Amino acid sequence: MTKVGIDKIGLYIPKYYVEMTELAQERGIEPEKLTIGIGQDRMAVPTIREDIVTMGANAARQILSEEDKQQIDQIIFATESGFDFSKSAATYIHELLGIQPFAKSYEIKQACYGATAGLQSACDYVRLRPERKVLVIASDIAKYGLNTPGEPTQGAGAVALLVSANPRVLALALESVSYTDNQYDFWRPSYSPVALVDGKFSTELYQQCFTKVLNQVPLTTQQQLSAMVFHLPFSKMGKKALEAYAAVASEQLEETLSNWQANYADSILLGREVGNIYTGSLYLSLISLLWHTQTLSAGDQIGLFSYGSGAVAECLVGELQPTFRAQIQQTQLEALLSRRVKLTIAEYEAVFSQVLSTDGDTLELSDIYEPDGVVLARLDAHRRYYQ
Ligand code: CAA
Repeated sequence: MTKVGIDKIGLYIPKYYVEMTELAQERGIEPEKLTIGIGQDRMAVPTIREDIVTMGANAARQILSEEDKQQIDQIIFATESGFDFSKSAATYIHELLGIQPFAKSYEIKQACYGATAGLQSACDYVRLRPERKVLVIASDIAKYGLNTPGEPTQGAGAVALLVSANPRVLALALESVSYTDNQYDFWRPSYSPVALVDGKFSTELYQQCFTKVLNQVPLTTQQQLSAMVFHLPFSKMGKKALEAYAAVASEQLEETLSNWQANYADSILLGREVGNIYTGSLYLSLISLLWHTQTLSAGDQIGLFSYGSGAVAECLVGELQPTFRAQIQQTQLEALLSRRVKLTIAEYEAVFSQVLSTDGDTLELSDIYEPDGVVLARLDAHRRYYQ
């Protein structure tokens, strides 16, 4: 069977960030609670001119060639930060990136799991049409509110995955294990600008889902996995899940689990810098691992644990391709991180509290903060215009 999977990965993270130690000081909590207990160093802060469309477009525009744009048949946009219940964010991306007109564009949702559903659907489409491609975009703004327990686990960013036959990064296996459990651990009713969360329960449910899903993955498949990457709402979460699973896993997995633990450190470095980006978080962990690893090589198999509150989880298996290192360099991670500008906590609070007007009047957007690339330029008659 033709290999199908992730051919190219693009990443966008906002230019502005907050330092966790400064947030801790301002909130009167010990810095180690955030840097060790939660496991976060910095948190990306989007400005008023950044939304899921701008971040998604900025993640995708760096990876697409003119040939790709002609071969893409679908744009699948995964988000839980949508600003429209009807028109999908994918339609803006279609125009902004100049994708060929006879492509279909749509949005999907299941909390942080959405992009994985999109990726699986994209792979199935390309398995049947190996000469075509699908663009999957995961873009989100994680918002819990100032001075809430969830505040240090906010973040923002987007990942773009180009799915093709004979992929250059990761070929995905046909078989995976998925799981659904109808729960209220984290959700955002349509009338609420911030997520509602039962924090402690959410971390417990995440761990339970990981164990339940892994228990269904054949032992021999698990033993072949050199690493496991996680959806990371904060970097301690995957560690907790690994430890919970290790406590009940078969003794035959001892060496496997110690390999996963050894590779875990590389997979969280980027998430520690950016925070939770919801749908894109798992793929941020993947980029982090592939960028930093000194030990993984082509042919190695890795597991991907996707989790979306509410709750849906899935474990995918991917095989690293010979060109994965060269391809991951295209994300220009060093440049993305080194261009960043720190906000004081007062500046972050002011940016956080800004909201777009909803009256439909014309509003030309300009700001003291200048994000990069595609930005939101204007609102007019309840429509968004980008530049
Ligand atoms: N030094 C070192 N560690 C310290 C410390 C110190 N001085 N003080 C506290 N800690 C440790 C605590 O012991 C604790 O560690 P363990 O979890 O290993 O026990 C850790 O810091 C966190 O402390 P608390 O549990 O007291 O933290 P909290 O109650 O303030 O909130 C949280 C933590 C529940 C994760 C909260 O940030 C939250 O609600 N976040 C949003 C929800 C979330 O991300 N849930 C994850 C699963 S859901 C999901 O994955 C989907 C998604 O993307 C949202």
